[in-house]
Amino acid sequence: MKPVRIGLIGTGNVGSGALEILALNGSELEAKLGFPLEIAAVSSRNILTKSVSNIPAGARVTADWREVAGAADIDIVCELIGGTTTAREIIECALKAGKPVITANKELMALAGPELQAEATGKATIHMEASVAGGVPIHAVLREGIAGDSAQAFFGILNGTSNYILTEIEAKSSAFDDVLGEAQRLGYAEADPTADVEGYDARSKLALLAQMAFGQRVAPGSIYCEGIRRITPFDFQYAHTLGHTIRLVCAARRTPAGLALSVRPTLIPKSTILASVLGAYNAVWVRGAAGQDTFYYGRGAGALPTGVAVVSDIMRAARDLRSGASARVSPFSFQKLAEPDLASIDDFVCGYYLRFRVKDSTGIIATLGRILAENGISIDAVLQLPTDDKANLPFVITVEPAREADVRKALLEMEALDFIVEKPLALPLERGV
Ligand SMILES: NC(=O)c1ccc[n+]([C@@H]2O[C@H](COP(=O)([O-])OP(=O)(O)OC[C@H]3O[C@@H](n4cnc5c(N)ncnc54)[C@H](OP(=O)(O)O)[C@@H]3O)[C@@H](O)[C@H]2O)c1
Repeated sequence: MKPVRIGLIGTGNVGSGALEILALNGSELEAKLGFPLEIAAVSSRNILTKSVSNIPAGARVTADWREVAGAADIDIVCELIGGTTTAREIIECALKAGKPVITANKELMALAGPELQAEATGKATIHMEASVAGGVPIHAVLREGIAGDSAQAFFGILNGTSNYILTEIEAKSSAFDDVLGEAQRLGYAEADPTADVEGYDARSKLALLAQMAFGQRVAPGSIYCEGIRRITPFDFQYAHTLGHTIRLVCAARRTPAGLALSVRPTLIPKSTILASVLGAYNAVWVRGAAGQDTFYYGRGAGALPTGVAVVSDIMRAARDLRSGASARVSPFSFQKLAEPDLASIDDFVCGYYLRFRVKDSTGIIATLGRILAENGISIDAVLQLPTDDKANLPFVITVEPAREADVRKALLEMEALDFIVEKPLALPLERGV
């Protein structure tokens, strides 16, 4: 049977993983599909001067992506280079030529995926399973697996680097900078870790999943985002005292005020399944109106897990081409995305964990309690674990559910107090996630 011909651009982690899987599983994939897949062309910037494994004999090898993306002998184009400039040109070129595109590019898809899909010619579609949570097939779940339900909320751990750092701080009581340095040494964190530790990478993924779960056009920049740099071993000690742990949680909920979306370190109960997600693993917990809770877990990155997502997308696109049923399911799950209806972070309501560092003196709790009361916030508990450093004493106040805007106003007043050593840290304290 005639093969479906693949053009693959980008031979780094993800591209080489996809090539390896296609080489390893070729005959099994053919048995599943009923026709073979053929790597007909491979491209990357420096491909002519470096060695890339698993390129089949006879495949065209070129440093010019244009010889792949629009070429007449290519049926499906894989964009696996990342970034938002050349990657965008590649995807536009392929879609305009009527070719389905496979991509792992969460940044570009979150910024411009719907426009790119709208520009596509004929029935060419984008497939982007690898863009969120690497080897966890969450797109397939939202687009088809639980499409019959109406998603009400989901909670994700979508950045393996920050989850690795948090769980190492938790396990070893090490400081953030030490754990980050170790993660960089081991290759778990980039030399510039900003996108991971500030939450921007997770935010792009949350924007993509929110589009698929709720059918609204969500720009990453409209999502409240806070990174993990301020989390200390003390915070884990206090969280444990409360029966909780801390994870960088991507949260999405339908609320009467609109979609409430955020990426932020959050205290979650130790008993919840999300709390058991350790190291570089990812997970998504989806709550449907009818089917209720479902949970998806796996490796969030890495050549082979992400390569599986790419190859599975290739198979999906190849089946669509062969059956003449391309664009059967929208890449964004909904045929048309509605304008966003987002709740303001000011109106989020939840319990909070407030961590202070103070110069020890009398009347501290009374002063903080007065400010909280003046802002309509009720104290739930005051916690102070033993420590010797009276000039930089950490302690925690947990508060009953309150409006985020009221909590921020109270914290701003507190920052100015002379016994406060460092800006107080406020983290949502989830009771039921
Ligand atoms: N790494 C992961 O585990 C993972 C997981 C999920 C999603 N992703 C996404 O997958 C994509 C690729 O990531 P990666 O980790 O595989 O990246 P990578 O290891 O840095 O590899 C990038 C590849 O793209 C090529 N390339 C870069 N710019 C190019 C250009 N202008 N023209 C032609 N080729 C170019 C590079 O070519 P040369 O090597 O020849 O210079 C290299 O082969 C990104 O969108 C990333 O966000 C990665």
